[in-house]
Amino acid sequence: KKLLLVDLDCGVDDAQALMSALAAPGIEILGITCCHGNTTLDNVTCWPRHILYCSTATLDNAFLQIPVYKGASAPLLGYGHSIHASNYHGKDGLGDVPDLSAPGLENVQKEHAVLAMLRLVSLVATGPLTNLALAVNMEPSFPQKLKSLFIMGGNMESRGNVTACGEFNFTCDPEAAYIVLNAYGCPTYIATWEFTFKNYLSWAFHDKWINQETRKAEFMRKICAHAAEFTEKCSDTEEDWTKGFVSCDSYAMAAAVDESCVTGAINCAVSVELAGTLTRGMMVLDITGKLEKKNKAFVITKFDMEKFERFMMAALK
Ligand code: BDR
Ligand code: CA
Repeated sequence: KKLLLVDLDCGVDDAQALMSALAAPGIEILGITCCHGNTTLDNVTCWPRHILYCSTATLDNAFLQIPVYKGASAPLLGYGHSIHASNYHGKDGLGDVPDLSAPGLENVQKEHAVLAMLRLVSLVATGPLTNLALAVNMEPSFPQKLKSLFIMGGNMESRGNVTACGEFNFTCDPEAAYIVLNAYGCPTYIATWEFTFKNYLSWAFHDKWINQETRKAEFMRKICAHAAEFTEKCSDTEEDWTKGFVSCDSYAMAAAVDESCVTGAINCAVSVELAGTLTRGMMVLDITGKLEKKNKAFVITKFDMEKFERFMMAALK
């Protein structure tokens, strides 16, 4: 079995990514570490158990035993400037569904997320990189010991979704993204904002996906309604990301579950702009090698979309 640790900031697409991974054959999720991001850390921490519960066929299913760890509540340079994304994900991070009360915090562990992370596996990060940066600072050899790292975040063509040039996860904590991308030592795959929205799934797929007659699909319909409404509101702007169904975090998760989903990538060193007044948080691709960095990442450019559709569809079966 492939062992994965998932670091997330629930998030509707974080939930989509997690549910797909839970349904994928040959995958064991060793733990879920939580980070501030789409909503507060407290909100983020209460959702995984609900998602595990909804993904489970019976109450004694092993999914409910998956441990959840609480991590960083603010970016590294705190300042009290946490950015949340309630416009898309709702104030509670999961669509503000009225009758969706989280089924408790039973599997939230005492151990801190960062300490759990130092136990060496493949890691998928679908939120701001604060927990990972803290892990690098605590144990500099952490990135070399990891088997592989899959990140949803950053941008490859200076397009942002939270600032003009900044993608949400990197802009939430630019220093953390900088530390992680400048320290990595294991194969690192990055699904950027532009890559995800250019490889959207069709609305026809979305409707078929969400209208399956299962408990999981019913849960998904509820948590997606707020995001769908926001996307609809934005659709007259004709922005690219409104043209189809974009489940950003699911691309990083699909790549972690099955690397053959990645059919094209730019292999280059990457870094993050920290000082720019307009560009803080922007990912920089060093295509010409001027940064003279040894480590290179795989910035994903192409995906096997048929495999991806199968991966997504299975999540709600
Ligand atoms: C990222 O930002 C968050 O709102 C999503 O969950 C995703 O991880 C996309 O930029
Ligand atoms: Ca996320």
